[in-house]
Amino acid sequence: MLVSIKKSYEEVSKAAAVLVAERIRRKPNLVLGLATGATPIGLYQELIRMNREDGLSFSKVTTFNLDEYIGLPRTHPQSYYQFMWEHLFRHIDIPSRSVNVPDGMAGDIEGHCEWYEEEIRRKGGIDLQVLGIGANGHLAFNEPGSSLGSRTRIKTLTEQTVGDNARYFKSIHEVPKTAITMGIGTIMEAKEVLLLASSASKAEAVRAAIEGPITALVPASIIQMHRKAYVTIDEEAASKLTHTFSG
Ligand code: GLP
Repeated sequence: MLVSIKKSYEEVSKAAAVLVAERIRRKPNLVLGLATGATPIGLYQELIRMNREDGLSFSKVTTFNLDEYIGLPRTHPQSYYQFMWEHLFRHIDIPSRSVNVPDGMAGDIEGHCEWYEEEIRRKGGIDLQVLGIGANGHLAFNEPGSSLGSRTRIKTLTEQTVGDNARYFKSIHEVPKTAITMGIGTIMEAKEVLLLASSASKAEAVRAAIEGPITALVPASIIQMHRKAYVTIDEEAASKLTHTFSG
C-alpha cells in the first residue's frame, strides 16, 4: 500500500490524474473503474484538462462505475449516471458505448448485477479502480458489515450514508434507500486500486481503513490486502494517522 499525503485537495486531484493518465498512456484500452461523490470531481476536472490540452485520449478506454441508486431513472439529476456524464464523460472523447454505470431501473436487478460482473470479465477485468471512502468506512455502497468477498448486488444504505448523501437532494426523504454496488470482491479483483480522500470528515475512516484491523465493519480496510493499492489523501484526511507516511 502506497500512502501519499498531499498538502491540499488540488494536489490530491493532480497526483491522482497523473497516475490515471500514465496508465492510459501505457495501455490506451485501459479498463478504468470510476467512483462518484465530491472527492473524485477534482481528478475528473484534471483529466478533462489533460484530454483538451495534453492529448490524453479516452477513445479506447472502457469505464465501469462502482454503483448506482435503485429507483432513479438515468435522467434524474442525482443519478450517478448523470453525475458521470456531467462531471466527466461529456467533456472527453470517450464513446458512449464504452461507459458502464449500473442501471438502477433495470427490471431484473439481480440479473443486471450478474450481467455487470460478466461485462467486467468480458473486458478482461478492471485495470485501475478509483475509489472514495464513506465517513463510515464504506467503499462504493458496501456498507459496514458487507461481506469482504461480495460481488455486484443490491445493498440497503445505512442511515448515516442516506444522511451524508441528503445534501444532494431536496430532502432526505428523496434519497433512495437501496443501491446496486460492485462488491468488495469485485473491487479487490481490480489490478490496481486508487483510494482518494480529502477533509477532516474522512480522517477517522481513513485511520480505521489504513491502520485499523481488517474488518467487514470497515469495508475500506480490505485495501490493506490489495497488492497494488495507492492511497492519496490530503493532510486533513491524514490527520488521525499515527504512522509516518511519505509525501
Ligand atoms: C457515496 C458513494 C461512494 C463515495 C462516498 C463518498 O456513498 N457511493 O462511492 O466514496 O459517497 O463521497 P464523497 O466523496 O462525496 O465524500
